[in-house]
Amino acid sequence: MRAIWYEAYGPPSVLRWGEQALPEPGNGQVRVRLQASALAQLDVKLRAGLLQAHFALTLPKIPGRDGVGVIDAVGDGVANWRLGDEVCVLAAPLGAGTAASHVVTEAARVVARPQGLSLEQSAALLQPGASAWAAVTTAQLQPGMRVLVHGGSGAVGALVLQHARGLGVRTVATCRHDHRDHTLAQGADEVIAYDRGSFGHLRGLDVVFDFVGGDTHARSYPLLRPGGAIVYLVAAPFEDRGAEHGVRVLRALVTDAPGVLRGIAHVAREGFYRPLVSRCLPLREAALGHTLLEAGQVRLGRVVFAHG
Ligand SMILES: NC(=O)c1ccc[n+]([C@@H]2O[C@H](COP(=O)([O-])OP(=O)(O)OC[C@H]3O[C@@H](n4cnc5c(N)ncnc54)[C@H](OP(=O)(O)O)[C@@H]3O)[C@@H](O)[C@H]2O)c1
Repeated sequence: MRAIWYEAYGPPSVLRWGEQALPEPGNGQVRVRLQASALAQLDVKLRAGLLQAHFALTLPKIPGRDGVGVIDAVGDGVANWRLGDEVCVLAAPLGAGTAASHVVTEAARVVARPQGLSLEQSAALLQPGASAWAAVTTAQLQPGMRVLVHGGSGAVGALVLQHARGLGVRTVATCRHDHRDHTLAQGADEVIAYDRGSFGHLRGLDVVFDFVGGDTHARSYPLLRPGGAIVYLVAAPFEDRGAEHGVRVLRALVTDAPGVLRGIAHVAREGFYRPLVSRCLPLREAALGHTLLEAGQVRLGRVVFAHG
């Protein structure tokens, strides 16, 4: 099979492109012939060696978690998948990734590709979808609630806006001025440009989704009603001032549980999740994708690799 891989941590230039042995699925596994895959910050940080304290990778490593393709081999003990089934896959962070023509994965890590999504959108569904799902379920959204989504123009924030609208929740989103129209199109009822104005006048919100952190987090406490919640998905530490303001501060715990992946696919089939695709590149140009993402030059969604 053709694959991208790295044998040592380092800059995007450590990425190699070439042939590897075609893996065979074991018990409970399937092999997917991938048509496209997506690149996330996690892939870049793993390759750079920034997460060695959290993830013990075995090198060489094929990067990539998200992908879409067709099942082309089924291991023993797999009853629910057949050759030719079209699926989305979320590869485990430690195993072989999706930046390859094929990936072998546990059968529970694939879901039927939702109708209505393009190939590129399908390739970028499950990883940001799992984050959005965690945030929305942690917030326990109810119709009629009013919430603020920081980072509403991003891959995760856009799916939260789409999901919230589907649930009948009223949303305000923050993003840069240039991304206003894009963010309104994701379902935000109102947009506040963080580079032009302030969100500090908002009051009485039920939930603030924090996908940004830092000063944005610190300034969000007064916006909530008593008993409201900040639901966060940021790695950088912050001062929890929930008790002082009478609000809850809840971490969105992201999980790849099979039920969650099926739930994401279901929501996408219902038309709520339309993943954002920033740009497409051929898979052999994966190093360019990593470079652009590291340089902050990828906006409004994921880089998707076409496996041609
Ligand atoms: N722990 C986990 O498992 C996990 C998983 C996935 C994501 N995450 C975290 O979740 C966050 C979002 O991920 P993502 O994949 O959606 O990233 P993304 O696609 O890069 O989006 C980030 C968004 O943040 C916005 N932003 C930047 N500064 C802002 C500010 N001061 N105020 C409001 N918005 C601002 C950007 O908006 P503009 O482009 O309009 O400036 C951008 O759209 C990241 O912090 C990521 O690390 C965590």
